[in-house]
Amino acid sequence: MDQTRTPYFDVLLDYVDSGVIPFHTPGHKQGIGMDRAFREFVGDNVLSIDLTQIRGLDDLLQPSEAIVEAQALAAEAYGAEHSFFLINGSTSGNQIMMMTAVNPGQKIAVPRNAHKSMMGGLIMSGAHPLYMQPEVDEELHMDMTVTPETVAATLREHPDVQAVYIVSPTYYGVAADLEAIAQIAHDHGVPLLVDEAWGPHFRFHPALPISAIDAGADMCINSTHKMLSSLSQTAMLHQQGKRIRYDRLKAVVKLFLSTSPNLVLVASLDVARRQMATDGAALLSTTIELANETRRQLNAIDGIQCFGEELVGRPGFADFDPTRVTITVKDLGYTGYEAEEILRRRYNVQVELADLFNCVALFTIGTTAEAAERLVSAVRELAREDRPLDIFSPSGVLERRLKTSTYRLPKIPPMRMIPREAFLATTEFVKFKESAGRICAEVITPYPPGIPVISPGEEITPEIIAYLDLELRAGGRMQGPYDDQLRTVRVVQESGP
Ligand SMILES: Cc1ncc(COP(=O)(O)O)c(C=O)c1O
Repeated sequence: MDQTRTPYFDVLLDYVDSGVIPFHTPGHKQGIGMDRAFREFVGDNVLSIDLTQIRGLDDLLQPSEAIVEAQALAAEAYGAEHSFFLINGSTSGNQIMMMTAVNPGQKIAVPRNAHKSMMGGLIMSGAHPLYMQPEVDEELHMDMTVTPETVAATLREHPDVQAVYIVSPTYYGVAADLEAIAQIAHDHGVPLLVDEAWGPHFRFHPALPISAIDAGADMCINSTHKMLSSLSQTAMLHQQGKRIRYDRLKAVVKLFLSTSPNLVLVASLDVARRQMATDGAALLSTTIELANETRRQLNAIDGIQCFGEELVGRPGFADFDPTRVTITVKDLGYTGYEAEEILRRRYNVQVELADLFNCVALFTIGTTAEAAERLVSAVRELAREDRPLDIFSPSGVLERRLKTSTYRLPKIPPMRMIPREAFLATTEFVKFKESAGRICAEVITPYPPGIPVISPGEEITPEIIAYLDLELRAGGRMQGPYDDQLRTVRVVQESGP
């Protein structure tokens, strides 16, 4: 196919050129009715292609014209049999994968460090998760990926598993041994689904980890908006082979799509695919070089660590995406959250993610050398011994405890109900600090990175309470619980005497 084409973007441009009089949605009618300040800021062009799915513009739910070609071009570029454009991110991609691959009560092997949207998929599908423990690097205080050995052991213990689901790469750019895992899943006769939200660029550069589809995954999702240049909310779902029923997949995709997709988003997927297929290798070479050079400079700063491919081979660390620059600040006595705040407030540098000990900076084809320099000099300032007084955190006690403690991520708590049952059960609120032993009915996720510490159906343990308390005191924000300060927690109501 001709990867220089952008069939869907072209269709929108043709519509604008043809000067059609619009008696259709959206109500702003190509910008005429739009609030003036907004219109002046965003410009007329983008508003002129904010159209709806009328004649000639095809239908994302039932494509028959330009979207068919645009998605086929994407499938070819990604080496898949079919690709679907999504407009609600990999969040909907995870939900679609779950709803396609498993039925209520069926077992699916999933890593415990999956994104919360996987949990949404479990709640919707009614599937029975078998949580696999990812490797944990105690030194970095970080979840790695699930190993092939863990997948094999899970399948041996539960021969009735219907699918394997893996997250690779992680938020920190750590990739799983997907080829080995695909082999294990397929030998067992079940499909491999991969949340590759953070890897939409992998297929376009040889220095990057193997893409999920090339490794043999039956279905995967890519947050095209995260690492490539399509607009926020856009993602792609790729599928190959016969282990996933294509008719079921198509039906589920339709369930999850709006009937009024934003066509600007759809066109941005079309052009992002062309950009990668035609210039991806060259663009990514520059990005990778810049990230590697930045990593070298950061590692030269006293008190800062910035891991890279030297860790490949550690358990759960099969490969590494060099565009992810994880700045470990624990030796400075800061939490990652504090470092993030200081970098933003004092140096106007915003990282993608902070956790207890790290900040993660994303390098993409949009990262400039000047931006990379600003990051390095800001971190250098942050690490200087004569820190300006006003950047000291009031939570000095916590800083020192985090620095010196042998702090561990909590173990997977016992699952007492499947997520759907617990989420939909009759529930009540109890004091969080006194909730040990109760069955949690909500997803509690420090965000970012958006990985649940406890999920519906799991027993709240003293260890989980202590961990979440520490996260909150360290400045972490909670997503999912009704009470985001966790004074209370929603639990399954216990049946009376
Ligand atoms: C591993 C992973 N999967 C899925 C998602 C959801 O992606 P999106 O924001 O595109 O909906 C995220 C978001 O951060 C993620 O980190």
